[in-house]
Order: sequence, then C-alpha cells, then structure tokens
Amino acid sequence: MLTRRQLIKAGAATGLIAAAAPAGVALAGTTAAAGPASLFAVPLRIPKVLRPTSRGRGGGSRAGYDVYQLTTREVEKTIFAGTRTKMRLFNGELMPVIRATRGRPVVIEQVNALDVPFSMHLHGGHVPASSDGHPNHQVSPGGKRVFYYPNDQRASTMWMHDHSHDAHAENIYRGLAASYILTDDFEAGLPLPKGRYDVPLHLRDAQFAEDGSLVYEPDGFMTRSTILVNGAPRPYFEVAARKYRFRLANTSNERAFLLQLGQGDEMTHIASDGGLLPAPASARVLEIWPAERQEIVIDFSRYPVGSKVVLRNLIGFAGEAPEVMRFDVVRTAADPSRVPATLRANPDIGTPTVERSFVMNFDPATGHHLINGQHFDINRVDLRPKLGVTELWTVENTDVRFGIPHSMHTHLEHFQVVERDGVAPAPGEAGLKDTVTVMPGKTVKFKIKFTDHAGLFMFHCHLMGHLNMGMMGQMAVEN
Ligand code: C2O
Ligand code: CU
Ligand code: CU
Repeated sequence: MLTRRQLIKAGAATGLIAAAAPAGVALAGTTAAAGPASLFAVPLRIPKVLRPTSRGRGGGSRAGYDVYQLTTREVEKTIFAGTRTKMRLFNGELMPVIRATRGRPVVIEQVNALDVPFSMHLHGGHVPASSDGHPNHQVSPGGKRVFYYPNDQRASTMWMHDHSHDAHAENIYRGLAASYILTDDFEAGLPLPKGRYDVPLHLRDAQFAEDGSLVYEPDGFMTRSTILVNGAPRPYFEVAARKYRFRLANTSNERAFLLQLGQGDEMTHIASDGGLLPAPASARVLEIWPAERQEIVIDFSRYPVGSKVVLRNLIGFAGEAPEVMRFDVVRTAADPSRVPATLRANPDIGTPTVERSFVMNFDPATGHHLINGQHFDINRVDLRPKLGVTELWTVENTDVRFGIPHSMHTHLEHFQVVERDGVAPAPGEAGLKDTVTVMPGKTVKFKIKFTDHAGLFMFHCHLMGHLNMGMMGQMAVEN
C-alpha cells in the first residue's frame, strides 16, 4: 500500500489526486473492516458480444451495415448467490458488447420496454444529431426509435447509456449500459493482445440491500460500497501468464477509481477515451473517472503460475474494502503480442482561432450545479461552434470551498488536452479525450475541432448528480 504521501505524489502526475484528498475522499486502508463476504467469490464474467439481427447492403457504405435490436427492459439477475436483483438492461444482458468496424455503419432499432423514458446515447460517437440521444428525442415507455451510427472515426472503446432528461442517472445505475468497441485497420494491424486476451472491464459501484435489491438514492454516492466488475461483485479472473489488453470503463454515477495492481506493479497504459495514445505510458497507478475509458496491457508472465494479484482502488470512501478484483495466474500460454513503442499520433487539428471559457460550480443557495452561472435549459443554445474551426476551451472548477470535482464531456467530437493546471498533459492524458476531470480550483484547457455533423449536441459534467442538477449546456454545431 502506498503511503498517503506517495499516493499524492503519484496523483500529482496528473494533478488530480492531490486535490482529491481534501475533497472528502478518504483513503481506504488494506485493513478496512473485514471485506464483504463477496470478496473474490465469483469469477469475472466476459460480457456477451451481441450479434446483428440482419445485415444490409448500401446504407451509404460499400461494406454494407449491421442491424441490431436493442430492447431496454427490467429483468432479474443474480448478482449475489441466492438472491435476485431487479435491473434495467439492454436485451437482458449485463454490459453487452457491440463490436463494430470503421466504415461499416451500425443501425440500432431500439424498443423501450421500461416504464420510464429512455434516450440512447453513444458516448464517444461521431453520430448525427438525430441519433445522439438528445433529451428532445427520448423514447417513451412502449415506444421505439432507430439510431444510425456511421462508424466513421478512429478505433476506440465507447459505451452506450441513457440520456433521457430525468431518468438517466437512475437508468445507468440500474444497469443500462453497454460497450461499443470500434476497430479499424490501423489498430487491427498492431501486435496488441487480441481475441480472448482483449477483455472489457466495466467498473462501477452500487448499493445493495440484504435481499439483493439495488438501492438507489440520488445523493447516495458515499454508500455505494459494492464494486462491480462486469456486473460481478469483486470477482476473480483466471488468466494465463502472458499479456492481456483490458478495456476499462467507469460507468459509475459518481465514483472515481485510482487503481493499483499488486504492490504498484507496472501497467502499460495504451488508450483512453478516443482510442490509442500517441505512445504507451507506464503506469503504477491509473485514474479512471466516471464515463472515462482507459485501456491497459498487463503482462502476467512476470508472475509465477499460482500467483494471485489484486487490483485495488486507492481512493475509496472511509471504511470501504479497497479490492476491486483479483487476477489468478493459472497457466502458461504462448504470447505473440507486444506493445509497440509508438501507437497512434493525434490528428493535427491546427491552431485554435476561437476561445471559450466554462466556469463550473455548485450553487449552495439552490443546490444546482452550474456552467457559466447557468442551469441547463432545453430551450437555450449556449454555443454555436462551426464545423472545421479549431477552438480552445478553458474549463475552470471554482468549487474550492466545497471541494467538489467536476468533469467536462463533449458530445460529437474528441478533444486534445493542451494544459492541465498550467502544464502539458501527462502521457496518459495526451491522446484523444471526450471527458476530463477538473479538480476544485483547477483549470484544464483543450482544443477541439468539430468535423462532421451539424445540429444540436450537449456538453456536460459527467458526475450524474451534477448533471441531474443542471450542469449541462447545448451547442448548435453549424456548417
Ligand atoms: Cu456519456 Cu452526454 O454522455
Ligand atoms: Cu456522451
Ligand atoms: Cu460536476
């Protein structure tokens, strides 16, 4: 276990964690009260890859397109042996995966069999406004809607979730999330671990009652002490002594993770929200905030068969068990994979000619979370970016007094961080991002150039409680 000082030093690499400590985030110790009975009791589930229900020709692509049916509905699952948990899921599956290929669009026919509205959003997707899940387009109970995802963008790990106006936080909490893994020729040509050695790991927290039911309290983020990985509570995963690629996504409403493998063993950070980093970055700890994706390669060949290696969260709330999951090295295996010394250069989006600033803060008088002093208003357009024009966004979190972190997520386009608290981003944050966290009193600058779809899109803090309380704006992207 790192000492608090080492931890703060480690976090100082990105500037986030040093500020997290006074934010009311206690550091969990390894001796936290006996962990829950469910510690390493169940195997990791490998999420199901959905199959297209049909394939079409044309659709704007020579390669044709794939059609999926997704039904959002309530179903019962067993999370803890002997109990049933009512969840809201896509096709009755925990974190199902859609695998897509660049140049081959995906069409989704979505049916809402929930008794609450639903508005499907592909987080990280370059999609037309009509398929972006704007709350104007939410599907009422019993309704349906067709979504078109062009897949004309770089390979990356995206995820799908609700964006309906009032139900999104609870829908996500109750399980409605899916992985969307886009590949392309460039990425497929790299010798990274593939196939069964390329594993999505969805991290989130939750609170369960004794009978196994999910407890949802909008402000209950400090009581969600059960950590689920691909829907299983603190599971173990039997691995071969070779390299694996893990696609981490944090689908928690509010929780951040600062992950440490074993005693601070090396993880190789290879990708973030928008896909591969320019170069791999060695990481002894890895932060992942709500809605972010971070991909790592772990080489288990350095552990003898029989080893058990624990992945921990170093920033749990007081009294929580820090364990997230355990890797059990059970066999040897051939390993033709390797991590190249360079991965993928960022696109050159030029020098910004438009500047915008965003101040994010909590208003204690109203309990609202605001951007530039304003609460979300579906009838107000906050900005009108032009396609093809490079902009510089400065995002400042002024919540020093309350110590509240915020994040900024842009729909439609990824951005490149140019400065975090006055310095260039750390290597792990130097790739394409779509969500960045800004700690209290801190500032992040990034450049962004919208390139494809005109129309109405959102930008917001991805801490769900803040989003619920107004921390969102709209941009009308114009030709
Ligand atoms: Cu995960 Cu508005 O997005
Ligand atoms: Cu999004
Ligand atoms: Cu926020």
